[in-house]
Amino acid sequence: MKYPYQINSMEEYHEAYKNSAEKPDEFWGEVAENFLWRKKWDKVLEWNFKEPKVEWFKGAKLNITENCIDRHLETMADKPAIIWEPNNPEERTRIVTYSRLHKRVCQVAQMLLNNGVKKGDRVCIYMGMVPELAYAVLGCARIGAIHSVIFGGFSAQSIADRLEDAKAEFIITCDGAFRGGKDIPLKSIIDDALIGNKTVKKVIVYTRTRRPVSMLKGRDLWWEDEMDYALSQIEKNNVVTMPATEMDAEDPLFILYTSGSTGKPKGVVHTVGGYMVWTTYSFVNVFQYQPGQVHFCTADIGWITGHSYIVYGPLAAGATSVMFEGIPTWPDAGRFWDIVDKYKVNILYTAPTAIRSLMSYGLDPLKGNDLSSLKVLGTVGEPINEEAWHWYDEKIGKKNCPIVDTWWQTETGGVLISNLAGVTPSKPSWATLPLPGIQPVLVDERGKEVTERDENGLLKGNLCIKAPWPGILRTTYGDHERCRKNYFATYENLYFTGDGVLKDVNGNYRITGRVDDVLNVSGHRIGTAEIENAINMHASVVESAVVGFPHEIKGQGVYAFVITDKKHSEDELSKQDILETVSRIIGPIAKPDKIQFVNGLPKTRSGKIMRRILRKIAEGETENLGDTTTLLDPGIVDEIKNNKV
Ligand code: WTA
Repeated sequence: MKYPYQINSMEEYHEAYKNSAEKPDEFWGEVAENFLWRKKWDKVLEWNFKEPKVEWFKGAKLNITENCIDRHLETMADKPAIIWEPNNPEERTRIVTYSRLHKRVCQVAQMLLNNGVKKGDRVCIYMGMVPELAYAVLGCARIGAIHSVIFGGFSAQSIADRLEDAKAEFIITCDGAFRGGKDIPLKSIIDDALIGNKTVKKVIVYTRTRRPVSMLKGRDLWWEDEMDYALSQIEKNNVVTMPATEMDAEDPLFILYTSGSTGKPKGVVHTVGGYMVWTTYSFVNVFQYQPGQVHFCTADIGWITGHSYIVYGPLAAGATSVMFEGIPTWPDAGRFWDIVDKYKVNILYTAPTAIRSLMSYGLDPLKGNDLSSLKVLGTVGEPINEEAWHWYDEKIGKKNCPIVDTWWQTETGGVLISNLAGVTPSKPSWATLPLPGIQPVLVDERGKEVTERDENGLLKGNLCIKAPWPGILRTTYGDHERCRKNYFATYENLYFTGDGVLKDVNGNYRITGRVDDVLNVSGHRIGTAEIENAINMHASVVESAVVGFPHEIKGQGVYAFVITDKKHSEDELSKQDILETVSRIIGPIAKPDKIQFVNGLPKTRSGKIMRRILRKIAEGETENLGDTTTLLDPGIVDEIKNNKV
């Protein structure tokens, strides 16, 4: 497979960028010609950010799985689509060729139809990183069901909220999931999530860990039985036929929940056509993927990175995608390097937090592994610090592999700002240049475009995007007004990212982090309001305030200031209780790193918590806390400062 839209030089980048801005219809129409459509579009793009309304390739008909699978069968049937590395390195690897992937996805699709799933129905997927997770995702897409994958680290309560918001009628899960030394009881967590649920009709359970599970008659079904039956329906003389459902380009493909500055996660909706074009275009260009290469994205499919760069982007490009069930540090910290060596990985795409964590183990875990197959390295999820960047460059890439620092979001579908590996220059800790189609604007608090450079020649502001690209979110599920308010209302006629940014004289961008109340812990987005809500559920908590602080490995850590009722002593036990509560309400990923019991919180006279002050205290600042005279009780600041944990 060749990619006529692959950019090969700086000149080509400039040309593509210019064309995409001046003639977006022509530009994206041409890129889209490289996909399989049952019917071409009537119009490439129609939009306004007021409502917002964004429609790409309107009138076009397609099925994304025909693009990710069927169209490769003629020339690449025996080529590995997915290479699966199990949690336990002693266990057998699984190599899933494109023809095997086709068969399995068709089986899932038929299995879903057999169980009453229709186009537009929401299917929640809560599984570990097994190939069946990819089959489930693509099986939904094949019949036009909307998948909503929930990361395996979320609690029953989080799942229950998402099931209710999406009004999901079907769940696909596993008995359990292996992650490092742990065996996570997924089915039993689903059982808890379903207490009181009124919408879910069927739960399909794939056997992975063989831990005992309870199967409810009439509701719970074994994946293995259902898949066998489905195969008997669709396979004749070793040939599998299972037609894909014809979708409109603007039909929803999936919902993925993500945190914002309010307490309740939002269901970000992506649609079939634009998302397909954007993930594939960005995959091929950012990583400079060449046919035959092996791509290893270490993310979990429970996050957008896994959706876009393990499943949809690579498969639509006909790539070989490595899927890893385990964690980088189990059974030892050499796991990624073993995998790179074992499968001769060419592109490694991971998170700065993983790099920092692996750095802390020194160079021993690298011994004995041949990393010479690597051609391109990538990072995503948070700003990468220079120390980690250089370690990655020297110890892993041996100064031979361009590093792409890819900035993007769940809402953007794919990468928006990044260098293109080996084609446009990298700059440590800078995401560098926008992809064709992306028009960033820096604005100040009031929405005025920032034009004045500081003493270092930098522009500094809040990052907005001026016009839509094919992968932009279309709505938040069930609540379009929320989408408008969240992303399109802060600044008129702009998509607001929530990130702060610097821009240098050469047009490079450096993301400085969130400017809203969203934390980025180990590359995972968590809203402070969400964590506060969870802490406040504890019976002896009166009020709490959560802020981030710099954390050596996680990037940002969670610092909670908590007021308890005075009935209980503020000892380690009650801290443990709070951690337990957060785990139960959200999941272990949201657990505070530090808890400080306080007698009060710095509040304005109108009752608003002054997070700015708390943030500074959490960061270890003792002097310049800013103006505290407007506080209701300025004395509380000293008290909090003096008792910092
Ligand atoms: C942050 C992950 C700096 C940013 C794909 C963004 C980054 C949020 C980078 C989205 C990067 C992501 N440099 N910051 N290269 N990539 N971020 O939705 O704050 O989980 O808004 O998407 O992660 O997180 P999300």
